[in-house]
Amino acid sequence: MRGNIYLVGFMGSGKSTVGRRLAQALHRRFVDMDLRLEERFGLPIPEVFRGLGEGAFREAEADLLVALSRRDRLVVATGGGVVERAENRALMRRSGRVVHLDACLETCVGRLSAEARAGRPVWTDEESARSLLGRRKELYGDCDLGVSVDRRGPEEVTQEIVAGLMPDRSLTTMLDAQPCPISCTWNAPEAVQRLLRERKALLLADTRVAKPHLAWFLEALGNPPAFIVPQGERSKSLHMAQRLYRFLLQHRMERGDFLVALGGGVVTDLGAFVAATYKRGMAHILVSTTLLGCVDAAIGGKAALNLSGDKNVIGAFTKPSGVVLDMTALATLPGSRLREGIVEAYKTGLMASPQLVEHVSRGLAALLEGDLPALHELVGLCAEAKARLVSEDFREGGVRRILNFGHTFGHALEGQRRFRLTHGQAVGSGMIVAARISRNRGLLSSGQAEQITATIRRLVSPPAPCPDVEEIWTRMQNDKKVSGGRIVFALLRGVGDPVIAEDVSKEEMAAAMGALRED
Ligand SMILES: NC(=O)c1ccc[n+]([C@@H]2O[C@H](COP(=O)([O-])OP(=O)(O)OC[C@H]3O[C@@H](n4cnc5c(N)ncnc54)[C@H](O)[C@@H]3O)[C@@H](O)[C@H]2O)c1
Repeated sequence: MRGNIYLVGFMGSGKSTVGRRLAQALHRRFVDMDLRLEERFGLPIPEVFRGLGEGAFREAEADLLVALSRRDRLVVATGGGVVERAENRALMRRSGRVVHLDACLETCVGRLSAEARAGRPVWTDEESARSLLGRRKELYGDCDLGVSVDRRGPEEVTQEIVAGLMPDRSLTTMLDAQPCPISCTWNAPEAVQRLLRERKALLLADTRVAKPHLAWFLEALGNPPAFIVPQGERSKSLHMAQRLYRFLLQHRMERGDFLVALGGGVVTDLGAFVAATYKRGMAHILVSTTLLGCVDAAIGGKAALNLSGDKNVIGAFTKPSGVVLDMTALATLPGSRLREGIVEAYKTGLMASPQLVEHVSRGLAALLEGDLPALHELVGLCAEAKARLVSEDFREGGVRRILNFGHTFGHALEGQRRFRLTHGQAVGSGMIVAARISRNRGLLSSGQAEQITATIRRLVSPPAPCPDVEEIWTRMQNDKKVSGGRIVFALLRGVGDPVIAEDVSKEEMAAAMGALRED
């Protein structure tokens, strides 16, 4: 969702309080127009009205609105009278989304103290305020979303605005003919509750996710038992799986009961693997709290554990009863983790969704700043593309292989650097190499390959020094995706037009690795 969010409504409807919360929830900047205008005049607004007249105030207000409309991704609490001018209303509609906080006069009076009312220049007495509100009602109605605020707290109002501007998305992916619902939502506990159908649940989370997010789930699900693992890749181990099996037994979990895995790819991989093997398979729900999980790890029914240092050696195809992509949780994710997810989403876009590539290319700054509306759009588009590919090819024998764009090389690089670089860095490097091979084969134009490389470089930097060709090649030959001894590369003929190649030679790859050294 591009543009600003403007909150309009009568004095006392809660624009400043809700605006501040909304901005915080969406990772956007907040502007209170009345405060800005007081700063500009160096006077409280009533004095501006008294000294300079309402006309001067409205002129300054309109000028400020023009200035704000040229910026992007703000949450703006407007003054109660901003809607009086038709050009202000038109400008707000053009440059963003307008939300009306709809309050009856009693609510406004109740919220404004006598002192505050005395400070409002257009408040003379209750009757005149009632007639002003009546007159403005229609003007406030010129909006994208109306939210009633009577008898409701700011938290509830904020949640309704978020859900109204960015509705939850539901889609389905087919896992071997079994439908798996995917919900991209701002209220993940509620989505889980719906999937549980009153069966018993047991929660799995890691320490870092548990701290800010577990309480909401525990409360919504009636305090089920929770198994908390240390954060990080080491929890994807047989040892941890064993402890989780014991915990499930201890709590007498049956096959029809649910294991709810709440976290990033580590927790959803561990949870899905254990659920798929406990008593030959128990019901499970994956709730993804990282961007990488939302665009990749949680979707597609693959689960894996590491064997000592060897990544994802033990694994299974699994069929969760549902996947919940938790948009609210993304607000606490650090920036470095966002980059990892954007790299994966960009890869999926290059292979299967021009719309997704366009979203990443145009909205990269917003995505990198953690703008929740931009991330919501990214997750929705990517989940749709991935769900489609998985439905066509659950067991990765055909079209799903295109999602390995950048991964053949990336996994080898990760192994070579003994995981001292991030997955995104490794995959990004692999994507740069694959784009160069595609260009050298005449599949992509130089301009297309350069554009892809430039976008990846804005997200991650390839490691220095350049990796050793021989070692990378040997590692690629040991990859689990090698088929009949042939290394499989996903290449690209254009956005959304992938090519699978099994004939890339070591020399060809070495030449393409030159792209990693160019800045
Ligand atoms: N199964 C698949 O198809 C698949 C696909 C891709 C990746 N993976 C696996 O996923 C794992 C990587 O996933 P990941 O990047 O999500 O790693 P992760 O699960 O380790 O999460 C990364 C870090 O972010 C923290 N975190 C999670 N949610 C948070 C939140 N909302 N706020 C703050 N911190 C939060 C975690 O505690 C952890 O420290 C790897 O093990 C990889 O092999 C699996």
